[in-house]
Amino acid sequence: MAKVTFVNVDRPALEGVAIPARVYKSSEEAVKDVARNAAGLVEARRQEGTPCVLGLPTGSTPVGVYRELVRMHRDEGLSFNHAITFNLDEYLPIPNDDPNSFQQFMRDQFFNHVDVKENNLHIPDGTTPIAEVDRHAEEYEAAIAEAGGFDLMLLGIGRTGHIGFNEPGSAPDSRTRRVELSAETRHDAAKAFGGLDNVPTHAITMGLQTMFQAERIVLLAFGEHKAEAVRKALEEPPSSDCPASLLQRHESVAFVLDEAAASGLSRMSG
Ligand code: PGA
Repeated sequence: MAKVTFVNVDRPALEGVAIPARVYKSSEEAVKDVARNAAGLVEARRQEGTPCVLGLPTGSTPVGVYRELVRMHRDEGLSFNHAITFNLDEYLPIPNDDPNSFQQFMRDQFFNHVDVKENNLHIPDGTTPIAEVDRHAEEYEAAIAEAGGFDLMLLGIGRTGHIGFNEPGSAPDSRTRRVELSAETRHDAAKAFGGLDNVPTHAITMGLQTMFQAERIVLLAFGEHKAEAVRKALEEPPSSDCPASLLQRHESVAFVLDEAAASGLSRMSG
């Protein structure tokens, strides 16, 4: 069974599921605990004088975590000047300054408000020509290796069970690469893009193997629309059919859920 990665909380992990899961009344409470734990790690690395390497997600789920980290930077002096960040994924193609690009999202939600160094930010480049994607992906992997691997990987989960843009069918040993988005994932993005036809059909994503190298992984899921993907990830045998379920094989992972996202778990109803 996976080890519990959270130490800085007073909430016991749900027992009897394949990955320790913490269930919060509200996502607001949950994101504060996640931010507090991430900040503790960032600060510990700063005191040791070593870089802190973070894997970072986009989407609506982590917005509150970034908001809280920005607040801690502003009000409590939390510094990211030794942090090295790698985002999970990016649409392909997409201009960097497109309001829906993950590049723009990260700058708006986080990077523009903290002291992380520009040279230490990494986001897959959504403007990479198709012929150069393989080389770009290799360079992304090399940069992660050079940074020394992840201290902490934060993840969301899609309704398909995707993590990053590793859709169902992704191999456990997959690396950073170009992928095709599932119909469900594109449908979920259609509103933001002003219609399904505007949603890119492809993306660049870190692979599952890339993510699984992280020392610790914390997956966040909020809302009833995530309940089925969460149930599969925690209660079904690990399988590429639900990429998040493959996290069961990682030894230091935690799920952070609100009650709605946990509502499909048999432990919650039983
Ligand atoms: P969301 O996306 O946070 O916007 O729900 C999560 C994901 O697709 O990984």
